[in-house]
Amino acid sequence: MENIEKLKEELSAGILAAGDIKSLEEVRVAISGKKGKITELMKGLGALPLEEKIEMGKKLNFLKNDLEKMLEQRKSELEEKELNAKLASEYIDVTQPVRPEVQGRIHPVSKIYEEVVAIFGEMGFDVAEGPDIEDQFHNFSALNMPENHPARQMHDTFYLADDANKDFDMDSSYVIRTHTSPVQIRTMENKRPPIRIIAPGRTYRSDYDATHTPMFHQIEGLVIDKNITMAHLKGCLYDFIKAFFELDEIPVRYRPSYFPFTEPSAEMDIGCLKTKTELKIGAGTDWLEILGCGMVHPNVLKAGGINPDEYQGFAFGLGLDRLAMLKYGIPDLRTFFESDVRWLKHYGFTPLDISSMTGGLSNNGGLAR
Ligand code: PHE
Repeated sequence: MENIEKLKEELSAGILAAGDIKSLEEVRVAISGKKGKITELMKGLGALPLEEKIEMGKKLNFLKNDLEKMLEQRKSELEEKELNAKLASEYIDVTQPVRPEVQGRIHPVSKIYEEVVAIFGEMGFDVAEGPDIEDQFHNFSALNMPENHPARQMHDTFYLADDANKDFDMDSSYVIRTHTSPVQIRTMENKRPPIRIIAPGRTYRSDYDATHTPMFHQIEGLVIDKNITMAHLKGCLYDFIKAFFELDEIPVRYRPSYFPFTEPSAEMDIGCLKTKTELKIGAGTDWLEILGCGMVHPNVLKAGGINPDEYQGFAFGLGLDRLAMLKYGIPDLRTFFESDVRWLKHYGFTPLDISSMTGGLSNNGGLAR
């Protein structure tokens, strides 16, 4: 009897001492496995006289049941402990910043694109698009540049061959667009006034030096309604340029110019300070040409199916790449399209900084970069 009590104490201490499922299993085998303590004792019962055998048998059975209950209990404790440890070690904090650190960069042209869309979007402009391969009607004729108009020569146009066997053909009906202005016509063809769109996209001219590449980017703007005047044009572009350069004030001036599709036409300059090593926008007395603009020519409205006696409007076009060079101090346009990862790392932007008028445009202090 005493022995049984002692044995119970000893074995239950073993169960409680097991620190994990594996050692608990070892303890279980040592108790009631084939060669376990209790199993051995039960085997030994046969040698006892009947009375004792019954008595001892009962005790051993009770003991075995008690120990099994304890084993069961300990097992579920240990299982819970292991599960909690696993949950703690596999815990992921989804609010942490991404790791490894973001490697990709947004190209300055994409960034400027985003910024310009954010600014004009805030002013209520829609984004319109047109094809890169244009017919000569949309690229030239509809924009008041009839065949043989000298302005067609100004554009260093890439003509596409109608016939695959000929590689250059001045009379071909297709070009890769020399500017985004054909989107003005495509918009008028599909939309009744009031119209208020910008059209960003790729444009092409056969030209190559530090400030010209054969493919570049423009943004076109077009506003048409009944009472649109040059004052609207000036106010709109002034607000845009201030927002774009993230400055409260910039000196601007409009110079008379010529575009076949606007009348009158102007170019907008912004005040800056130019030294050999520095270009400071909004300071000094130098002027920098920034965009072309004007009141939409009546012939262009007609070509777009809009009555020029009822409606008028303004248009502007600006070079995105040039804006990127100015805003972010990038000296050579050709490097934009070399796909050099080191360049992109230096001049690129982190993808998680989305441009917006409320959250910040460039997110890096604009010109302070
Ligand atoms: N399309 C002109 C260019 O590429 C720019 C422009 C657009 C000028 C709209 C006036 C109005 O040079």
